[in-house]
Amino acid sequence: MYKGFPSSSFRRSGDGLSLEILEEKLPSSLQSQEVLIRIRAVSLNYRDVAMMNGKYPISVKERGIPASDCAAEVVAVGSEVGDFEVGDYVAPIFDLYSLTGTEEQMAALGGHVDRVLRQFAIFEQRVLVHLPKHLSPEEAACIPCAGTTAWTALGMPRSSGTALLQGTGGVSMFALLICLAAGIHPIITSSSHEKLEKVQSLGGSRNIDTINYRSHPRWEEEALRLTNGRGVDLVVENVGPTAIAQSLASLARRGTVSLVGFLGGIKADRFPDTILPTLQKSLTIRGIAVGSKIDQQNLCDFLTEKKVSLKPILDDVVFAFEESQAAFDHLFAAKHMGKIIIRI
Ligand SMILES: NC(=O)c1ccc[n+]([C@@H]2O[C@H](COP(=O)([O-])OP(=O)(O)OC[C@H]3O[C@@H](n4cnc5c(N)ncnc54)[C@H](OP(=O)(O)O)[C@@H]3O)[C@@H](O)[C@H]2O)c1
Repeated sequence: MYKGFPSSSFRRSGDGLSLEILEEKLPSSLQSQEVLIRIRAVSLNYRDVAMMNGKYPISVKERGIPASDCAAEVVAVGSEVGDFEVGDYVAPIFDLYSLTGTEEQMAALGGHVDRVLRQFAIFEQRVLVHLPKHLSPEEAACIPCAGTTAWTALGMPRSSGTALLQGTGGVSMFALLICLAAGIHPIITSSSHEKLEKVQSLGGSRNIDTINYRSHPRWEEEALRLTNGRGVDLVVENVGPTAIAQSLASLARRGTVSLVGFLGGIKADRFPDTILPTLQKSLTIRGIAVGSKIDQQNLCDFLTEKKVSLKPILDDVVFAFEESQAAFDHLFAAKHMGKIIIRI
């Protein structure tokens, strides 16, 4: 019988610039629909550090518990919980309101509400998803935000066409693995020749095209060349306003830009001409807000069915819970390739 006990959490400091560890007592009992989970691994997203460095466009909870992505195991359930039992392997969804993708409200984990950089947490069963059993906690922890975003940005399910993925960050690398498993031809960009060489080795017999956006600042022309002038079907736009004109130029007719990120900065110093190319080529610019519980579940089912390993997207360095600040600093310094994991 669950009785409540102390659990350590990291919270953003009063000035919002660093992390502080605290011991907090969990509630003494669970509500009927609640599930207590023990968090095994957390993976970081750019937003987690962006909101501690004044680079996040949305206000966040003061002294909140950061991070949205984790893998956990169920340790206790409320009296009316039927979907989960003790020992199940689970993760919460990113936006606690987004069950079907049709909801109006939003409550994003780690931003608006406290979440997962802690040892234990309590969630209602309706916001939990079963994780693929073949994945380690470090791999599975990448699913809720990075994975689900990659899944919705690619417009899954689909099994053909060409997708251009910007950079070798978490969303992009996850999207690359989905492309390879689904049969979508990927073109991935990076500032680093070494990173692109490493990425190409993931393809096996499947071809991964690469573009160095430093040595090819007009990378959209490279994308057209690589597709024999046709253009790509979809761009996973991680850079934002500073890149969108180039992304539109790289698209084939009726192509889509999935607007995911703002790595190139929040405020564009100019508003590029997006209207004319969108009209001329019947393009779609689609805003992505991670995805719904259904999207996350579909992604988990896909990863299970295709036996996708997520090891290739993990950064070489794994941090211990006590080293969480160092993990955030590592991400902010952009020394990583793929996902940074904190093991708990
Ligand atoms: N809308 C949503 O639902 C949603 C969900 C998740 C994330 N996001 C946003 O999506 C973006 C990507 O997130 P992430 O977690 O994947 O970030 P990340 O892991 O920090 O990605 C960093 C990588 O992006 C690449 N990059 C940085 N600046 C670039 C530029 N100007 N041009 C091309 N590539 C650039 C770099 O790759 P190289 O080192 O290879 O050059 C860098 O290593 C962020 O802005 C994040 O906030 C949005």
